[in-house]
Amino acid sequence: MKILVTGGAGFIGSHTVVELAQAGHTPIILDNFSNSRPSILDGIKDILGYRPTLHTGDCTNPVFLTSVFEREHIDGIIHFAALKAVGESLEQPLRYYRNNIGSLVDLLDMALHHGVRAFVFSSSATVYGTPDMLPIPETAPRKPATSPYGNTKQIGEDILRDTTAMANGILRSSALRYFNPIGAHPSGLIGELPLGTPNNLVPYLMQTAAGKRTTLTVFGNDYPTPDGTGIRDFIHVVDLAQAHISTLESLFAAQESPETFTVYNVGTGKGTSVKELIGTFERVTGITIPYTVGSRRPGDIAACYADPQKIKKELKWEAKLSLAQALEDAWRWQQNSPKP
Ligand code: NAD
Ligand code: UFG
Repeated sequence: MKILVTGGAGFIGSHTVVELAQAGHTPIILDNFSNSRPSILDGIKDILGYRPTLHTGDCTNPVFLTSVFEREHIDGIIHFAALKAVGESLEQPLRYYRNNIGSLVDLLDMALHHGVRAFVFSSSATVYGTPDMLPIPETAPRKPATSPYGNTKQIGEDILRDTTAMANGILRSSALRYFNPIGAHPSGLIGELPLGTPNNLVPYLMQTAAGKRTTLTVFGNDYPTPDGTGIRDFIHVVDLAQAHISTLESLFAAQESPETFTVYNVGTGKGTSVKELIGTFERVTGITIPYTVGSRRPGDIAACYADPQKIKKELKWEAKLSLAQALEDAWRWQQNSPKP
């Protein structure tokens, strides 16, 4: 199948491009490089032995999208392209709504006009807000979003549900609610390329280990968790990429199913605290991380981890790679990655 991967030069997109190609599909990358660099295509080429097709442009531009859809016969779409910084979205809400919602609406329009059969959307565990139960099943209620970014994921899921309900069974879709993607390709050839100061724990930790940052700040050790630090469900990006292949293939196979829109958690089901993660990194690399404990980061919740049973049962996908493997791979990438 020919699969359009929007945001295919980004962190999760680049790993999914590799997994798609290795599963026998043809990935077509679309990216505007607003949060990535063209050099990631060199890493993809080194892994695959060839350079996938790239269309450089913006998926909020219908003229550009039309030219891509007229040139390629697209069977399915994985839509990663979005802005993703929670804090920035509070400062620039319209930019986030325009980019994240505008791109989804325009792409769905294209999908309907060009007979696309499968659409996978990057949602987030952030839609659950502060959860009432752990682990979190898909049936848990979505809580009112606390940022425009989070709102774009909730609205995005609703747009997808409503659009595919009216698509006469040709277009089917899934929203994948990612927990905390980390790690890098085991080859060390592709990985996350945070531009500027990283917001997320693992990229910050990697840059601290590399000596680029002096100290990691642990945001709070007074949470109601066993060691007082926040708990998250860290999932290896290669496992996450493979979940997209399982989802796409199930959408192509489900052409007779009355269900046109499905939602899946993509996580390991295991909660790990910030302190445990630092300890695992120190154990596998032998590097000591200088850290201090600071105050809680506004908006953070104490604990968040997935109940991954639905995707395991329905799509036969489950996370296979360990936290230690993810941190080793991220560190290998950090040592190889191009310096800004
Ligand atoms: P990323 O920033 O590395 O990748 C996104 C890519 O999309 C970038 O290459 C960027 O240049 C591109 N892009 C953005 N807007 C575009 C546009 N209008 N047109 C064309 N290209 C555009 O982010 P990521 O971590 O790979 O995240 C991918 C998706 O997963 C996003 O939708 C994000 O919201 C979602 N998500 C990420 C996380 C996470 O922790 N990384 C967690 C939950 C959900
Ligand atoms: N943390 C630190 N120090 C840091 C950075 C983070 O202690 O320098 C802590 C946070 O307080 C939190 C944990 O590490 O307890 C994980 O924080 P991240 O920023 O890595 O990830 P979040 O769980 O805050 O957010 C991520 C994505 C969001 C997504 C959410 C879904 O960045 O886009 O997961 O659960 F919405």
